[in-house]
Amino acid sequence: MRLFLDTANFKEVRHGVELGVISGVTTNPTLVAKEGHPDFKAAVREICGLVDGPVSAEVLSLDRQGMMREAREVAGWAPNVVVKLPITADGLAATSVLSREGIKINLTLCFSANQALLAALAGATFVSPFVGRLDDAGHDGMAIVADIAQVFARCHYTTQVLAASIRHPLHCVVAAKAGADVATIPYKVLMQMIQHPLTDIGIARFLEDWRKVYEREEVKTL
Ligand code: E4P
Repeated sequence: MRLFLDTANFKEVRHGVELGVISGVTTNPTLVAKEGHPDFKAAVREICGLVDGPVSAEVLSLDRQGMMREAREVAGWAPNVVVKLPITADGLAATSVLSREGIKINLTLCFSANQALLAALAGATFVSPFVGRLDDAGHDGMAIVADIAQVFARCHYTTQVLAASIRHPLHCVVAAKAGADVATIPYKVLMQMIQHPLTDIGIARFLEDWRKVYEREEVKTL
Protein backbone atom coordinates (compact mmCIF):
# COMPACT_ATOMS: atom_id res chain seq x y z
CA MET A 1 0.00 0.00 0.00
CA ARG A 2 1.27 3.48 -0.91
CA LEU A 3 0.77 6.61 1.15
CA PHE A 4 -0.49 9.97 -0.11
CA LEU A 5 -0.72 13.13 1.98
CA ASP A 6 -4.19 14.63 2.38
CA THR A 7 -3.27 18.30 2.45
CA ALA A 8 -2.92 21.52 0.47
CA ASN A 9 -0.06 22.74 2.66
CA PHE A 10 3.21 23.09 0.71
CA LYS A 11 5.43 22.66 3.76
CA GLU A 12 3.71 19.42 4.74
CA VAL A 13 4.04 18.05 1.21
CA ARG A 14 7.73 19.02 1.08
CA HIS A 15 8.42 17.23 4.37
CA GLY A 16 6.45 14.10 3.43
CA VAL A 17 8.34 13.83 0.15
CA GLU A 18 11.66 14.45 1.90
CA LEU A 19 10.94 11.48 4.18
CA GLY A 20 10.67 9.34 1.06
CA VAL A 21 7.39 7.75 2.09
CA ILE A 22 4.82 9.92 0.33
CA SER A 23 4.08 9.23 -3.32
CA GLY A 24 1.09 11.47 -3.98
CA VAL A 25 -1.24 14.14 -2.60
CA THR A 26 -4.98 14.56 -2.34
CA THR A 27 -6.68 17.89 -1.83
CA ASN A 28 -10.29 18.93 -1.53
CA PRO A 29 -12.04 22.32 -1.44
CA THR A 30 -11.98 22.37 2.38
CA LEU A 31 -8.22 21.72 2.54
CA VAL A 32 -7.45 24.36 -0.12
CA ALA A 33 -9.67 26.93 1.63
CA LYS A 34 -7.98 26.14 4.97
CA GLU A 35 -4.62 27.19 3.49
CA GLY A 36 -6.20 30.33 1.99
CA HIS A 37 -4.38 29.90 -1.34
CA PRO A 38 -5.24 32.96 -3.44
CA ASP A 39 -4.91 31.07 -6.75
CA PHE A 40 -6.16 27.47 -6.96
CA LYS A 41 -4.38 26.71 -10.23
CA ALA A 42 -1.06 28.05 -8.93
CA ALA A 43 -1.44 26.05 -5.70
CA VAL A 44 -2.16 22.80 -7.57
CA ARG A 45 0.77 23.39 -9.92
CA GLU A 46 3.07 24.06 -6.97
CA ILE A 47 2.04 20.80 -5.26
CA CYS A 48 2.38 18.90 -8.54
CA GLY A 49 5.95 20.13 -8.75
CA LEU A 50 6.74 18.99 -5.21
CA VAL A 51 5.73 15.34 -5.63
CA ASP A 52 6.31 12.97 -8.55
CA GLY A 53 3.10 11.00 -8.03
CA PRO A 54 -0.59 11.80 -8.52
CA VAL A 55 -2.07 15.00 -7.09
CA SER A 56 -5.87 15.09 -6.83
CA ALA A 57 -7.58 18.44 -7.43
CA GLU A 58 -11.34 18.64 -7.04
CA VAL A 59 -13.77 20.41 -9.38
CA LEU A 60 -16.67 22.45 -8.02
CA SER A 61 -19.28 21.94 -10.77
CA LEU A 62 -22.07 19.52 -10.01
CA ASP A 63 -23.49 19.04 -13.51
CA ARG A 64 -21.92 16.72 -16.09
CA GLN A 65 -21.04 19.40 -18.63
CA GLY A 66 -19.57 21.70 -16.00
CA MET A 67 -17.54 18.84 -14.49
CA MET A 68 -16.16 17.90 -17.91
CA ARG A 69 -15.26 21.50 -18.73
CA GLU A 70 -13.48 22.01 -15.39
CA ALA A 71 -11.84 18.58 -15.51
CA ARG A 72 -10.34 19.17 -18.96
CA GLU A 73 -8.93 22.46 -17.77
CA VAL A 74 -7.52 21.09 -14.49
CA ALA A 75 -6.03 18.07 -16.32
CA GLY A 76 -3.89 20.46 -18.36
CA TRP A 77 -2.30 22.12 -15.33
CA ALA A 78 0.36 19.44 -14.75
CA PRO A 79 1.19 15.96 -16.06
CA ASN A 80 0.60 14.34 -12.66
CA VAL A 81 -2.73 15.96 -11.86
CA VAL A 82 -5.74 13.73 -11.15
CA VAL A 83 -9.20 15.27 -11.34
CA LYS A 84 -11.43 14.62 -8.38
CA LEU A 85 -15.16 14.33 -8.98
CA PRO A 86 -17.91 13.35 -6.54
CA ILE A 87 -19.63 9.99 -7.12
CA THR A 88 -22.99 11.13 -8.42
CA ALA A 89 -24.84 10.25 -11.62
CA ASP A 90 -23.26 13.30 -13.27
CA GLY A 91 -19.86 12.41 -11.82
CA LEU A 92 -20.05 8.88 -13.23
CA ALA A 93 -21.22 10.09 -16.65
CA ALA A 94 -18.40 12.65 -16.76
CA THR A 95 -15.88 10.00 -15.66
CA SER A 96 -16.86 7.58 -18.40
CA VAL A 97 -16.19 10.27 -21.04
CA LEU A 98 -13.08 11.78 -19.43
CA SER A 99 -11.40 8.44 -18.71
CA ARG A 100 -11.74 7.52 -22.39
CA GLU A 101 -9.92 10.78 -23.17
CA GLY A 102 -7.06 9.61 -20.94
CA ILE A 103 -7.85 11.98 -18.06
CA LYS A 104 -7.22 10.38 -14.68
CA ILE A 105 -10.20 10.62 -12.32
CA ASN A 106 -10.45 10.11 -8.58
CA LEU A 107 -14.10 9.51 -7.70
CA THR A 108 -14.51 10.89 -4.21
CA LEU A 109 -17.07 10.86 -1.40
CA CYS A 110 -17.54 7.09 -1.77
CA PHE A 111 -19.52 5.54 1.07
CA SER A 112 -20.50 2.13 -0.30
CA ALA A 113 -19.14 -0.84 -2.24
CA ASN A 114 -21.85 -0.29 -4.85
CA GLN A 115 -20.64 3.24 -5.52
CA ALA A 116 -17.09 1.90 -5.85
CA LEU A 117 -18.20 -0.79 -8.28
CA LEU A 118 -19.80 1.90 -10.47
CA ALA A 119 -16.64 4.01 -10.23
CA ALA A 120 -14.61 1.08 -11.58
CA LEU A 121 -17.05 0.45 -14.42
CA ALA A 122 -16.94 4.15 -15.37
CA GLY A 123 -13.16 3.93 -15.70
CA ALA A 124 -12.00 5.91 -12.66
CA THR A 125 -8.29 5.63 -11.86
CA PHE A 126 -9.00 5.92 -8.11
CA VAL A 127 -12.04 5.58 -5.90
CA SER A 128 -11.94 7.15 -2.45
CA PRO A 129 -13.98 5.50 0.32
CA PHE A 130 -14.22 7.90 3.29
CA VAL A 131 -13.42 5.71 6.28
CA GLY A 132 -13.52 8.26 9.12
CA ARG A 133 -16.79 9.84 8.03
CA LEU A 134 -18.40 6.38 7.84
CA ASP A 135 -17.10 5.60 11.34
CA ASP A 136 -18.50 8.95 12.54
CA ALA A 137 -21.91 7.93 11.21
CA GLY A 138 -21.80 4.66 13.17
CA HIS A 139 -20.71 2.40 10.32
CA ASP A 140 -17.56 0.31 9.94
CA GLY A 141 -15.65 2.38 7.38
CA MET A 142 -12.83 -0.09 7.00
CA ALA A 143 -15.25 -2.95 6.29
CA ILE A 144 -16.33 -1.00 3.18
CA VAL A 145 -12.68 -0.70 2.10
CA ALA A 146 -12.26 -4.47 2.53
CA ASP A 147 -15.47 -5.16 0.56
CA ILE A 148 -14.33 -2.88 -2.27
CA ALA A 149 -10.86 -4.46 -2.41
CA GLN A 150 -12.44 -7.92 -2.52
CA VAL A 151 -14.89 -6.98 -5.30
CA PHE A 152 -12.14 -5.32 -7.36
CA ALA A 153 -9.83 -8.33 -7.01
CA ARG A 154 -12.62 -10.77 -7.83
CA CYS A 155 -13.75 -8.78 -10.88
CA HIS A 156 -10.21 -7.83 -12.00
CA TYR A 157 -10.99 -4.11 -11.94
CA THR A 158 -7.95 -1.89 -12.31
CA THR A 159 -9.37 1.09 -10.39
CA GLN A 160 -7.24 1.71 -7.30
CA VAL A 161 -8.78 1.77 -3.84
CA LEU A 162 -7.70 4.97 -2.10
CA ALA A 163 -8.67 4.83 1.57
CA ALA A 164 -9.52 8.41 2.57
CA SER A 165 -10.77 10.27 5.62
CA ILE A 166 -8.07 8.55 7.66
CA ARG A 167 -8.10 9.74 11.27
CA HIS A 168 -5.34 7.84 13.09
CA PRO A 169 -2.37 5.51 12.56
CA LEU A 170 -4.35 2.32 13.19
CA HIS A 171 -6.52 3.19 10.18
CA CYS A 172 -3.41 2.88 7.99
CA VAL A 173 -2.54 -0.61 9.17
CA VAL A 174 -6.11 -1.80 8.82
CA ALA A 175 -6.42 -0.20 5.35
CA ALA A 176 -3.28 -2.05 4.22
CA LYS A 177 -4.59 -5.34 5.62
CA ALA A 178 -7.97 -4.72 3.98
CA GLY A 179 -6.29 -4.46 0.58
CA ALA A 180 -6.32 -0.70 -0.11
CA ASP A 181 -3.88 0.33 -2.83
CA VAL A 182 -3.32 3.72 -1.23
CA ALA A 183 -4.18 5.49 2.02
CA THR A 184 -4.28 9.27 1.96
CA ILE A 185 -3.40 10.60 5.38
CA PRO A 186 -3.26 13.96 7.13
CA TYR A 187 0.25 15.19 7.98
CA LYS A 188 -0.55 14.79 11.67
CA VAL A 189 -1.21 11.07 11.19
CA LEU A 190 2.08 10.69 9.30
CA MET A 191 3.90 12.22 12.28
CA GLN A 192 2.00 9.96 14.68
CA MET A 193 3.02 6.91 12.62
CA ILE A 194 6.70 7.76 13.07
CA GLN A 195 6.51 8.19 16.83
CA HIS A 196 7.00 5.42 19.36
CA PRO A 197 8.05 6.09 22.97
CA LEU A 198 10.24 2.96 23.02
CA THR A 199 12.21 4.31 20.04
CA ASP A 200 12.94 7.52 21.95
CA ILE A 201 13.87 5.60 25.12
CA GLY A 202 16.06 3.25 23.08
CA ILE A 203 17.97 6.12 21.43
CA ALA A 204 18.55 7.82 24.78
CA ARG A 205 19.84 4.60 26.32
CA PHE A 206 22.21 3.79 23.43
CA LEU A 207 23.73 7.27 23.62
CA GLU A 208 24.02 7.15 27.37
CA ASP A 209 25.77 3.73 27.32
CA TRP A 210 28.16 4.91 24.59
CA ARG A 211 29.04 8.11 26.41
CA LYS A 212 29.66 6.26 29.71
CA VAL A 213 32.51 4.33 28.05
CA TYR A 214 33.82 6.50 25.22
CA GLU A 215 33.20 10.04 26.31
CA ARG A 216 34.69 9.96 29.83
CA GLU A 217 37.32 12.65 30.32
CA GLU A 218 40.21 10.15 30.68
CA VAL A 219 39.23 8.32 27.44
CA LYS A 220 38.94 11.61 25.54
CA THR A 221 42.46 12.67 26.56
CA LEU A 222 44.14 9.39 25.51
C1 E4P B 1 -9.91 12.58 0.52
O1 E4P B 1 -9.41 12.72 -0.58
C2 E4P B 1 -10.43 13.67 1.34
O2 E4P B 1 -9.71 14.84 1.03
C3 E4P B 1 -10.26 13.47 2.81
O3 E4P B 1 -9.63 12.26 3.11
C4 E4P B 1 -11.46 13.79 3.63
O4 E4P B 1 -11.15 13.55 4.97
P1 E4P B 1 -12.01 14.14 6.19
O5 E4P B 1 -13.21 13.28 6.36
O6 E4P B 1 -11.09 14.08 7.35
O7 E4P B 1 -12.38 15.56 5.81
